[in-house]
Amino acid sequence: MSYAAKRYDFHDKPADYARLREELAVLLAGENDLIANAANTCALIFAALPDVNWAGFYFLKAGELVVGPFQGKPARVRVALGHGVCGTSAARRQTLLVPDVHAFPGHIACDTAARSEIVVPLIVDGALLGVLDIDSPRPGRFDEADARGLESLTALFVAAAGQAAQASRP
Ligand code: SME
Repeated sequence: MSYAAKRYDFHDKPADYARLREELAVLLAGENDLIANAANTCALIFAALPDVNWAGFYFLKAGELVVGPFQGKPARVRVALGHGVCGTSAARRQTLLVPDVHAFPGHIACDTAARSEIVVPLIVDGALLGVLDIDSPRPGRFDEADARGLESLTALFVAAAGQAAQASRP
């Protein structure tokens, strides 16, 4: 499989997210290893989205979020549920759009360049698996179209993770 990174301009966000979803489907096809799929998912997102300085996963382990595969600068390893943008999104099981991270109480700064952030929770068979977290150096970088687009991408990732969970059951 070869992957030619394309940069979309995202002037038509729904259309570009739909194209990105097709690329992600190809990347995930036939593979159910969680780490491999998480690594390729965040690499695709980081390569494709403009104005992004961090994109990656936190997975729920023993009651807290632990950093997983990502693209960007080294990050905080553990985030408690209910803390930071990631822990708040995870606890509420809601996508969080943060136009100004400095105005978000308890925001955890990993890369000081980050000005805005979006976090999408990952729910597999009703259980919280973790979150997808994306940072931007541009204030107000993410809007509802990004939220819907990224939720459509994480739905594919979650479907693959669900198949992996099923395959590992005795
Ligand atoms: N900003 C996040 C922490 C993770 S870093 O952005 C990669 C938060 O407040 O939860």
